Amino acid sequence: MIFVANFKMMLTTPMIIKLVRENLSGYKELCATNSIILCPPATAIRELFSLLSNSCIKIGAQTCSSTTTGAFTGEISPADLAACGAVYCLIGHSERRNLFYETSETAALKASLAANNNLIPIVCIGEKKEDHDRENTLEILDQQLNPVFQRFNELERECELYIAYEPVWAIGTGLTPRKEPLGNIFTHIRGLVAKKHKNLRYKLLYGGSVSSKTISIFKEIDGLDGFLIGNASLDFQEFKKIVDSF
Ligand code: PGA
Repeated sequence: MIFVANFKMMLTTPMIIKLVRENLSGYKELCATNSIILCPPATAIRELFSLLSNSCIKIGAQTCSSTTTGAFTGEISPADLAACGAVYCLIGHSERRNLFYETSETAALKASLAANNNLIPIVCIGEKKEDHDRENTLEILDQQLNPVFQRFNELERECELYIAYEPVWAIGTGLTPRKEPLGNIFTHIRGLVAKKHKNLRYKLLYGGSVSSKTISIFKEIDGLDGFLIGNASLDFQEFKKIVDSF
């Protein structure tokens, strides 16, 4: 299984280096049988890369610029993230969409730029509470994914894509979807991929209040390849419990 830790802006670079250094052998054990991806703020990527150089733990960035190079003060290009040691990049996380007004078109552009720069994009999609209540979830997911498939169809070479379904109402709330609707959502996403980009190499992740307490809900979901974990990834023992439960 794939376990992606999203550290968000919760820890400073020295705090992240300390967390990983103190638990390095533990992380290494976890990635002997699983894929472990740590997503720190961009400032920590290079130092983390040095620390993890002889390990199977991979690094992801939390976002990237939608342009390749130029006069864009404050932006960080996908090429720079890759040069510093990132292998993956979160794209269109709901916090980026909702707090920084990132649209699905921008997210799609970032995903294709990331892919073109040898990063595997982890595109985050998910409906807000009001859309969930109105049963608009599948429509929202289609709207968020279609621009990504369009961009991926235009890429010159086949690139891998990770899709993380994270219902916005489940992020950081302790709430999780029930098993059956969640299974249907993943079936729907797989169907959409088959229709829009038949040969796509992709993985499906779930994110939103994943913890050692909630993990059992997700165990029997067909075709789920892994998890995107926020809060619970800040405590190594809690993160380990989640991984060890598989
Ligand atoms: P959470 O966050 O696990 O704290 O709910 C998940 C995410 O935002 O990626």
